[in-house]
Amino acid sequence: MQPNDGAPRYRFVDREPDDYPRPDLNPFLRQHREMGPPALPAYRAQEAGGDWDAIFGRAAPLHVEIGSGNGFWITHMAALHPEWNMLGVEIRFKRVVMVAKKLQTAGVSTARILRYDAFMVEELLPAAGVAGLYVNHPDPWPKDRHAKNRLLARPFGELVTRLLEPGGRLRIKTDGGGYIDEFSEAIKGLPLRVLGESRDIARDGTPWPDEDDRVTNYQRKFYEKGLPVYALWVEKPATP
Ligand SMILES: C[S@@+](CC[C@H](N)C(=O)[O-])C[C@H]1O[C@@H](n2cnc3c(N)ncnc32)[C@H](O)[C@@H]1O
Repeated sequence: MQPNDGAPRYRFVDREPDDYPRPDLNPFLRQHREMGPPALPAYRAQEAGGDWDAIFGRAAPLHVEIGSGNGFWITHMAALHPEWNMLGVEIRFKRVVMVAKKLQTAGVSTARILRYDAFMVEELLPAAGVAGLYVNHPDPWPKDRHAKNRLLARPFGELVTRLLEPGGRLRIKTDGGGYIDEFSEAIKGLPLRVLGESRDIARDGTPWPDEDDRVTNYQRKFYEKGLPVYALWVEKPATP
């Protein structure tokens, strides 16, 4: 998306800490900007124009997790896949700092945690698409009147078709079985195909190889309550 003057234009507005009425109330407003990699503040990613090879300091397949939470999963997955560049996208300042600290403590240098709205991250991601997308326990919005906020709906399916490179894959884990059903329905007619699903990961395993996954913080909480965690594996076929 380039305006006539050649400068990139972004829909996501990264307000400066002093633009908030009481920046002193949230120390993470400043901290996530000042701590450096693996924390990636929005303005830095925008300045880099989404040049991910430059941001990571190397060229590697890009895998993106949406809504990283406290960073449990991305830290373990980045350690499992040092051959990937792993990007977590998280909207909440405090969680961005938590993820960055976890990555630092684990000595992981191949992951970044970006403070951005996942619905707008397309403007930063490579036009050619990314190799992998991961959504772990998206906010549930269980009430009918909040259904429009649910991530796993048709607009997200359309976004996924644009974000994935041909042959790229999306993995979803969620505590709501209804959400994977709704999403499977919502993506009908889109150039995506369902590779597999699980209605109870603890009982049946994941549709992707079990050894190629790690438990997320929310997933662990649901296991502790004896509740099922569901999974859906979707591919954008290499040839339409
Ligand atoms: C229910 S938590 C799950 C956290 C983690 N994935 C896990 O499984 O433990 C959902 C996360 O998504 C983040 N989130 C919600 N909306 C978002 C958005 N529009 N862009 C980026 N992150 C978002 C929340 O801040 C929260 O950390």
